[in-house]
Amino acid sequence: MPSLLVDNIGELVTNDAGRGEGGPLGIRRRVALLIEDGEVVWIGPTTDTPSADHRIDAAGSAVLPGFVDSHAHLVFAGDRAAEFAARMAGERYTGGGIRTTVGATRAASDSELRATVRRLRAEALRQGTTTIEIKSGYGLTVVDEARSLRIAAEVSTETTFLGAHVVPAEYAARPDDYVSLVCGPMLAAAAPHARWIDVFCERGAFDADHARAILTCGQAVGLGVRVHANQLGPGPGVQLGVELGAASVDHCTHLTDADVDALVSTRAGDEDGGTTTVATLLPGAEFSTRSPYPDARRLLDAGVTVALATDCNPGSSYTSSMPFCIALAVREMGMTPAEAVWAATAGGARALRRDDIGVLRPGARADLVILDAPSHLHLAYRPGVPLVRQVLHNGVPR
Ligand code: NIG
Ligand code: FE
Repeated sequence: MPSLLVDNIGELVTNDAGRGEGGPLGIRRRVALLIEDGEVVWIGPTTDTPSADHRIDAAGSAVLPGFVDSHAHLVFAGDRAAEFAARMAGERYTGGGIRTTVGATRAASDSELRATVRRLRAEALRQGTTTIEIKSGYGLTVVDEARSLRIAAEVSTETTFLGAHVVPAEYAARPDDYVSLVCGPMLAAAAPHARWIDVFCERGAFDADHARAILTCGQAVGLGVRVHANQLGPGPGVQLGVELGAASVDHCTHLTDADVDALVSTRAGDEDGGTTTVATLLPGAEFSTRSPYPDARRLLDAGVTVALATDCNPGSSYTSSMPFCIALAVREMGMTPAEAVWAATAGGARALRRDDIGVLRPGARADLVILDAPSHLHLAYRPGVPLVRQVLHNGVPR
């Protein structure tokens, strides 16, 4: 593969703070970056660049790692715009609309689902997302969960089995039987296409005992654990995730001090993040449900590792935009722009237990974003403005 030099970078966010300069974002100025075979192989001053087959002139702009969106539900049919409008007129979000999307998803053909997944994947990529996790969870039958994951796996290696999203209507009177289905034939059909297992652990969805049973079954067949936790109210999800060594507990909107302490404890002696449970915050959901935002400041001050993700789904957060989430996190959740950019890149990588993405240093994947702006600060400072000039994914311009 021909080599590619990205030259004249005004500000490079490396997230490689180990170099002891440039703050937590590991910022370097006036540098160039060389890519070979989809990997970063060299970063150095613009005055001393190696030769390359091709060259992109960043013209003094900011360059950062591609966004890592570690939480999205892209496999669905239909939309719930009317439900959104009703909420904006005063109705509360309960998660009850999930069943509406389940009905539409079951009725859709494979090619309709595939078209939606590809459309949203492309939409995210245009906005700088180079890695996206994709959950099932709108099929809730053996066949529909397996096909959801098969289609998701066509566009991402980060696929998550969420058969335990809600108890579908036909099992409403016998939730134990649904848990047995999820742990048995549904998991068997889903696991070949999934890297992760997730449960919506919340009042009205799955309680701690059911969630533990399902997540443990997933672990037994080699899936990593993630949990939808403490979104609509306080509950057992966060501490259950920590107990099971989850890579991430997601939402974290309603936390007790004990929840925060449990998350802090996962960082003890964990330099490379390999056993940390990340708190993944999803401000698009609070925006779209008009709910109070999670307190990112409290988590960061306690020493918890925080990620930001979109939660892209047709019910609670129909956005694929990581820059939008960064802006919300800064304006509404007490994060500094640097913390939010880290959380949307390196934080997402930690939430997926990946060390090859979310960072720009020799050996990392050449997933990066060239902004139409001189600094990462502009992502929050200029909300709603399409600042992504160019995206490189595996070193290839998109
Ligand atoms: O992450 N909380 C559970 N699942 C999704 C919402 C799904 C929906 O409303 O369709 C979430 O917010
Ligand atoms: Fe979600």
